[in-house]
Amino acid sequence: MNAPRLTSALQGRFSPLRFDPDHRLSGPDVEALLEAARWAPSAGNAQPWSFHLRRRGEEGHDRLVAHLAGSSRRWAPDASALVVNLARREVDDGLLYSEFADYDLGQAVAHMTVQAHAMSLACRQFRAFDLEGLHNRLGVLPGWHILTMTAIGVPLRGDTAPPARERRSIVDLRTAGVSSP
Ligand SMILES: Cc1cc2nc3c(=O)[nH]c(=O)nc-3n(C[C@H](O)[C@H](O)[C@H](O)COP(=O)(O)O)c2cc1C
Repeated sequence: MNAPRLTSALQGRFSPLRFDPDHRLSGPDVEALLEAARWAPSAGNAQPWSFHLRRRGEEGHDRLVAHLAGSSRRWAPDASALVVNLARREVDDGLLYSEFADYDLGQAVAHMTVQAHAMSLACRQFRAFDLEGLHNRLGVLPGWHILTMTAIGVPLRGDTAPPARERRSIVDLRTAGVSSP
């Protein structure tokens, strides 16, 4: 059930496990998704992120599929696009670029996820892939790190959020993690 006063932009969002294999993302769709990430806040406006996006059928999509884990291979190839989410943690000489790089990337991916939902698309972010193999295959530059991938598309008819998606209580959110709440 939706929480009271939850903004309509978040209502109904869920991470599908089945995507419509016939849906195609248009060029403007891709631009809108990247634009949402582009406008995410980041520490010092460093924008320490990169999104390697390939649409299904596009050159380079196959090599992303080749590095999926067994679990994600069951559903991610059907998504309209796969995105590799990278953060820049260090500058070339190994010095810290931003201690907030991972935080910032997560926030940018969240923006993309909400934008997708507003476009009647859905995202499933995931870690079930061969990170080292993909890192090598893409030739990830020093200082950059792959953190997650995102599958974006239209949920297959009938794929809806599980009715009993567990969520921690608001009380717990406000008290966990500190000894003197
Ligand atoms: C960082 C991250 C990693 C995730 N990794 C996986 C994954 O490897 N496989 C998977 O099926 N889902 C993965 N998920 C999706 C979560 O399981 C899903 O978001 C969670 O169950 C809550 O469901 P909801 O997004 O529908 O609310 C991941 C999500 C995040 C944010």
